[in-house]
This record gives sequence, structure tokens and C-alpha cells, in this order.
Amino acid sequence: MKYARIKGTNDIYGDEISYWYTIEESAKKVAKLYGYGEIRTPIIEPTELFIRSVGEETDIVQKEMYTFEDKGGRSITLRPEGTAPVVRAFIENSFVNKGFPQRYFYIGPMFRYERPQKGRQRQFHQVGFELFGSESPLADAEIIHLAVKLIKEIGLSKFKVVINSIGCEKCRPKYRDALKQYYAKHIDEVCDDCKRRYDTNILRLLDCKVDMEIANKAPKSTDYLCGECKEHYENLKKHLKMLDVEFEEDHKLVRGLDYYNRTVFEIRHELLGAQSAIAGGGRYDKLIEMMGGQSVPALGFAMGMERLIIAMKAEGVKIEPALVNHVYIAHVGDVVETALKIAEDLRRQNITVVMDVMDRGLRAQLKHADRIGALLTVIVGENELAEDIVIVKDMESGEDSRVDINFVVDFVLDKLNEIL
Ligand code: HAM
Repeated sequence: MKYARIKGTNDIYGDEISYWYTIEESAKKVAKLYGYGEIRTPIIEPTELFIRSVGEETDIVQKEMYTFEDKGGRSITLRPEGTAPVVRAFIENSFVNKGFPQRYFYIGPMFRYERPQKGRQRQFHQVGFELFGSESPLADAEIIHLAVKLIKEIGLSKFKVVINSIGCEKCRPKYRDALKQYYAKHIDEVCDDCKRRYDTNILRLLDCKVDMEIANKAPKSTDYLCGECKEHYENLKKHLKMLDVEFEEDHKLVRGLDYYNRTVFEIRHELLGAQSAIAGGGRYDKLIEMMGGQSVPALGFAMGMERLIIAMKAEGVKIEPALVNHVYIAHVGDVVETALKIAEDLRRQNITVVMDVMDRGLRAQLKHADRIGALLTVIVGENELAEDIVIVKDMESGEDSRVDINFVVDFVLDKLNEIL
């Protein structure tokens, strides 16, 4: 084979597309229910945007970005995530003048140079939601509730919500110190990455997969929260209970991006194995200001579409097929004009019609109708047409009906109503 797709990317087609439609339509439906408008940002952004926002010391920036120089000598990066671009758009287009809160969602491809494995791609797709302008824990509850609603709308039920609060710039230094003291005693037991992170990103040591017992016994961020962060976190939990959102608390949840403060959360699927996070998010109250905008609190989450699909398949979620070929029009002899007219009359009734364009014999046409799963085939033939008749074949039973040409549309509609 001469050309193969890039490792960690996928061609998506055929029956698989139905899963993508289900997620996209569910996302749009839920976005509408909560008043989120769509935003579409470019796939390429200045590299600096991600270094500043996601964080110099994160895995994404250190190892995973697709970065290249364009012909004008600028450093460009394929977006590894969606929050930084939306924040850039927010600042650049002066969204701040529109008043608050503002709610946005997006759907699209993201790129990270990770080691491909089940649920981990180099080009993957996210659905994300971002809410700007509210500091209230009610906004955190809305975002988490929305995420759960969307996952249920997609048809999933075997998941759990995990939350934590990592505090703010006032209380986090104390927590960091506590972690440093604790990990100083265990530095020989953690992985090489974590030894490096000890100085640069101590919170990430809680994520170390080498010896989880060490992290389990580490100091908890929630024990170090300042009064305001504590109250915020308690109120979030109260609101989640009001909304009947079940959740677990996990002090080891710190997330891999630097912009978070206070609330962080993940939604994990039971049947997914190592890459179990189907959604992740949290607050990023300082990001907009840090990126050169005004001081605007914000929060959001994104979910991985490939992982959602693995979960849908694992749970056996029933989905609507993306395409049902209702009617195939077969025609033999000098009857094209009538065949075209029937096709158009049917399409006007929102019926999917596939018409033969290969000038093949009837047998070959019927074979093709079968292959594309047509429910009915309208056969337009010279002999029948001389009597103002066409034949409608039920492809499942094989039964033929002779139908007056003036009543084809009504007949097909009735028949489809019976079948569907
Ligand atoms: P994230 O946790 O890096 O957060 O990604 C969100 C979700 O994207 C993950 O939970 C996972 O389902 C999916 N995902 C991430 N990397 C891959 C990959 N290599 N292959 C397949 N799926 C993947 C963010 O990206 C934040 N921007 C979320 C956010 C929005 N926070 C606030 N607003």
C-alpha cells in the first residue's frame, strides 16, 4: 500500500458514522436545552497560546503538541484542546462587552502526539462546553449536571462522576508545601517523570501510576482549602445533591492542564479500562486575565467522542442508523422521465430515494437495492407503464404490488409507515 493514514488517526465511515451523529445530535440538543451557542475556532493556533494556557510543564506542552513552522516562519500548533482557543476568541472578539454569563459549546478534532492505544488517539474529537462570567458554585453544578445529562442522552449509564477542589492561588501554596514535604520522603519510590515534576508540578505526582498507595496516603487538597474555596466546594456538593447528580470525591484528581482552580471533575466509564475518562473539566478563573483579557471567572468541560463510542459499544447502546435508503428506483427501457418524476415526487415527501444511474439490467439493479438496504424498490418498466402501472417490491418479504402510477407516493408512504 502506497499511502496509509497517520498512526493514531482514523477514517470514519459507514455504520460507524451513526455513532458520531448520535453524539453530535445529543450535544446540540442538550446545548439548546441549557442555552449554549456553538463556537467554531480554527484548528491551527499560535503555539504560544497553548504554552501559556495549558502550561509549560504539562505533558501536553512538553511532549504532545503537533507544532510546525509555517511558510511565514510563525510557530503554529494543531490545537491539543479546545479551551485555550475559545478563551483566545473570547478576548480577541471582545465578548466581554456582551454581558455575563455567556455559554458556548464546540465539537471538533484535537491533536496530541500520545502513544496510541484503545481510547487514545493522536487525532481525536471533543465536544466541549464553556461558561464565562460566573463565580457561583451554581455554575459548576450546571456544568457537571449538563455533562451527566449529555452522557445519559447518548444512552450511557455505567459511569461515575468524580470531583475535587484544588483551591485557589491563596490556599494552593500551602497545599503544595504539604505535598512537597510528604513526597520528599517518597521520592525514591516514584517514577522518573514524577521525580522531575517534584520541582515543576508537584500536584501531578498524585497521578503517578507507578505506586498508587503513595498518592492514596498523600495530603488532601480539600484539607487545605481557604474559607472561600471550602464554602464554594461545599455549596457545589449541595447543589449537585439537589440536582440528583451522584458523585464521588477523589483527592487524587488534579487534572493534567495548569489552568484549573477550585473545582475539577472527571466522568469515568466502568467498561473502558486504562483510558476511562470520558469527560474532564473544571474552573479556570484566572485564565482569561492571564491571557491578556479582563478578570472573568470561567469553567467548562470536554468529552472525548472516540471514548464515548467505545463506551456505547461496550454498553450495547442502540442507535439510529445515520442513513436508511427508503426507496430504490429501478428502471428498464425508455422510462427515465417517469422514473425521475417518481423519484422527485417521493423526495418531496422527505423519503430517501436512490435512483439507478448505471444503466444496468433489472437483476443487477435489484441486487444493488438489496446491498444498500433499500426497504422498497419501485420498478418502472415499459410494459407496466403502458398500463399506467409500476411495481413496488417489499425488499424484506419479496412481495410485489402493482400500483397505479397516480398513487405511487401514497402507496409508498403507507408501506413505509407499516415497515418503520
Ligand atoms: P482533557 O481531560 O485533556 O481536558 O480532555 C477531555 C477529554 O478528551 C478526556 O476526558 C478524554 O475523553 C478525551 N481525550 C483526551 N485526550 C485524548 C486522546 N489522546 N485520545 C482520545 N480521547 C482523548 C481538556 O481538553 C480540557 N480542555 C477540558 C475543559 C474544557 N476544561 C475546561 N473546559
